[in-house]
Amino acid sequence: MNETALTVHQTARPHGFPTPAHFAFVESALPEPPAGAALVENLYWSVDPYHREMMDDVPGGFALGVPLEGRSIGRVIASRTPRLCEGEIVFHRRGWRTHAVVTPEETRKLPRFDGVPLTAYLSTLGGTGLTAYVGLTRIARLQEGEDLFVSAAAGGVGTAAGRFARLLGAGRLVGSTGSAAKAVHLVREVGYDAAFDYHEGPADDLLRKAAPDGVDVFVDNVGGGQLAAAVRALREFGRIVRVGTISQYNDPDASAPRFDHADIVEKSIRMEGFLVSNYRHLQEELYEFAVPHLQSGRLALDETVVDGFEHIVDAFLAMLSGGNTGKIIVRGRTERMPGSRPWVLADGLPQRS
Ligand SMILES: NC(=O)c1ccc[n+]([C@@H]2O[C@H](COP(=O)([O-])OP(=O)(O)OC[C@H]3O[C@@H](n4cnc5c(N)ncnc54)[C@H](OP(=O)(O)O)[C@@H]3O)[C@@H](O)[C@H]2O)c1
Repeated sequence: MNETALTVHQTARPHGFPTPAHFAFVESALPEPPAGAALVENLYWSVDPYHREMMDDVPGGFALGVPLEGRSIGRVIASRTPRLCEGEIVFHRRGWRTHAVVTPEETRKLPRFDGVPLTAYLSTLGGTGLTAYVGLTRIARLQEGEDLFVSAAAGGVGTAAGRFARLLGAGRLVGSTGSAAKAVHLVREVGYDAAFDYHEGPADDLLRKAAPDGVDVFVDNVGGGQLAAAVRALREFGRIVRVGTISQYNDPDASAPRFDHADIVEKSIRMEGFLVSNYRHLQEELYEFAVPHLQSGRLALDETVVDGFEHIVDAFLAMLSGGNTGKIIVRGRTERMPGSRPWVLADGLPQRS
């Protein structure tokens, strides 16, 4: 094998928004798998908001100067274990690199469903879709006819939450997002009844206008002022599904949202957070729910696909600033062929030689 591999390392801790200067592409010889392991060429990568949280100096966060981890789908190209065969497509967490050495225990073989593309295993059928599914069915325990408000509604979790809620028989769906164009997209393409750009005024006013009769469930991807507004808009026995707090990830000075805690008591509101990693056992249930709808066309995938591993950092930074609709996924530009050209670094950025 005369190819080279690339990995992405974090090189410094950001204060506020990260920039390309916080990362480095590192070139190396293609790794040889040891006995019991296989070499995977990655085809698709997920870049996620939690990567931003891990860039800080926090317990379990990214170490500096080592390859970053992340969800990835790749093809086995060399194997020294009978449990992983050349040509097999696997899911694993050694992302942010063109090639990964993996053991069978670190991989999951993906089921193939007719008409469902591989990207779905990082979006609607992956951790993103599972987060939306768990939030609606286990945390909110959504009932037919109930009205929802979803923040960051145009993102991966937000679009899946909207589409799943519709399939589960929800009533009125209201979403918030970061631009007028994305608000229009939510209504026209994703099936929300109303959507607003949260930059256009106080969240309280915008939510009151979009949901004048209130909501039963809030799927909160954002926190901050939108969470405070939702507490006010929730009806009796309302539920707040705390999914994420992206309004704080790049804002070291962010303070906790201020809302009237008496509202929680007087309206018997339940607020519950969760981590999707504690609900992996529902993966098959998600397939049973979503795959028939994907195959029938009742459920569409919402994805922003960025071409080329060399753009993985750009894709991550764009996602943090709202550059995506649906789940953002990076796709390898080239399929591996014998003698394919190696990666080289030019001014620190990767190119094919
Ligand atoms: N609990 C779990 O296990 C779990 C699992 C997956 C994800 N999450 C969380 O779920 C949330 C969504 O994740 P995702 O993967 O679906 O990402 P995403 O929504 O596809 O992408 C992030 C989006 O957040 C929005 N955003 C960025 N800064 C913001 C700010 N200051 N205020 C409001 N919105 C902002 C941007 O959209 P706009 O253009 O609309 O601003 C951006 O597109 C994140 O908080 C993430 O951490 C939690």
